[in-house]
Amino acid sequence: MSATSGTPVVRAITPQQVRTLRHAVLRPFEPPEKIVYHGDEAADTLHAGAFLDERLVGIASVCREPMPQGREPEGWRLRGMATLPEVRGRGFGRALLEACFAHISAHGGQLLWCNARVVALGFYAHLGFVAEGEQFEIVPIGPHFVMTRRL
Ligand SMILES: CC(C)(COP(=O)(O)OP(=O)(O)OC[C@H]1O[C@@H](n2cnc3c(N)ncnc32)[C@H](O)[C@@H]1OP(=O)(O)O)[C@@H](O)C(=O)NCCC(=O)NCCS
Repeated sequence: MSATSGTPVVRAITPQQVRTLRHAVLRPFEPPEKIVYHGDEAADTLHAGAFLDERLVGIASVCREPMPQGREPEGWRLRGMATLPEVRGRGFGRALLEACFAHISAHGGQLLWCNARVVALGFYAHLGFVAEGEQFEIVPIGPHFVMTRRL
């Protein structure tokens, strides 16, 4: 696929690369070098980057992590799902999630979960995620639901 066609191009990137966009889109209140999540450096973690004309415009990371309360001990967790405002609605988020689904399936995983911001519930539902349990707050970000996606 051509990187200049305007179609999403997704490839694996480094933990350092994801931190810039995590900071810009998700956690502007924290310096990029401090935005380190559990599992970021694990060998089978995927940091997916979406590129438009060789510019990094979206990110998503998946790592092995059971769901809260020890449910789904073989589960995988999605973190740092973000696309730049100027490319939203063009399929970059979907392409990133599809790369994550493929990575998890290739590693024998069957369940992906995340703490979904309420503002992003529609996006996740569109990609087959289901909300579970009660809404909860993550300070200072706002309201969330746990969402799951069976693979
Ligand atoms: C949520 C986010 C990653 C979506 O990225 P995106 O690049 O706009 O997603 P896509 O263009 O691939 O959208 C995929 C599909 O979901 C739909 N969609 C996207 N956002 C949606 C929303 N908020 N509600 C309902 N549907 C939505 C799109 O219309 C598209 O549908 P289609 O495939 O039928 O055309 C992006 O809006 C974002 O970064 N938001 C800010 C950060 C954030 O809240 N991240 C989630 C943290 S939990």
